[in-house]
Amino acid sequence: MGEFVSVETDDHGVATVRIDRAPVNALSPQVFEELHTAARACADDTRIGAVVVWGGPKVFAAGADIKAMRDATFQEFYAQGGGLQESVAALARLPKPVIAAINGYALGGGMEVTLAADFRYAAEDARMGQPEILLGLIPGAGGTQRLPRLVGPARAKELVFGGGQVTAQEALAMGLVDRVFPADEVYERAVEAARRYAAGPYALRMAKQAIDEGLEMDLDSALRLESTLFAATFATEDRRIGFDSFLADGPGKATFRRN
Ligand code: HXC
Repeated sequence: MGEFVSVETDDHGVATVRIDRAPVNALSPQVFEELHTAARACADDTRIGAVVVWGGPKVFAAGADIKAMRDATFQEFYAQGGGLQESVAALARLPKPVIAAINGYALGGGMEVTLAADFRYAAEDARMGQPEILLGLIPGAGGTQRLPRLVGPARAKELVFGGGQVTAQEALAMGLVDRVFPADEVYERAVEAARRYAAGPYALRMAKQAIDEGLEMDLDSALRLESTLFAATFATEDRRIGFDSFLADGPGKATFRRN
């Protein structure tokens, strides 16, 4: 697809969004743009049921491209109105399960990409952090917002104020990652999990929307959203397939069509 971001879909409906820009997958504006295009392609392609975002076996991404940003100005970033952030938001809004498989460093904008995923699977050698403060910046692609929502404000502030890195085990303990695997297994394990989600019903989209949008609302509004989406599942063919399969063969045996 792009020069630095590719999308490959397997026979099980799992797309791998692969960032590949040696040596550290630094996220230049072009990489952000390609990530945006990849997220839209994954959203639109009906063959795709779940997505794995991976930076390859050595590094997830060491953040925004510091060399490219060296001479950037306030006006440039202000004028583009959060365009880089928007690329990460496109991943977060993808209406299908997304797993980030993390080998090596996921720093700054790289860590922010992982925060847009539903789940983070880390290799034992993964290192995560928001080091922007060491450059005189703050995170700009969701790190000050998604991170505290995930791990709480104090842990987020520790990472953002201090600019330090955490190991995979530390990240697991604070809820920043969901699983830790040996480095040579993490991608395969993410794909395995994604395949299970990709075999799920259309209702998975509604579950994701209810949880993600509901968390941004007051409880009454969120419960109304849940009711509407619950009702909407009855408009799907997969709901009928799920019921018929249960009544004929018991739980968990349905083969869904994702529509
Ligand atoms: C551009 C980078 C880079 C980056 C590393 N390199 N990180 N280039 N942007 N973010 C380059 C180095 O300059 C070096 O280039 C080569 O990659 C290898 O890096 P080394 O430092 O020599 O390797 P190592 O000692 O293994 O350390 C790896 C590292 C370290 C831990 C990843 O490089 C590092 O701390 N990088 C900066 C991480 C960071 O601050 N990220 C946040 C960026 S700001 P040469 O040419 O010398 O070989 C951000 C804001 C997001 O992300 C905002 C979004 C809107």
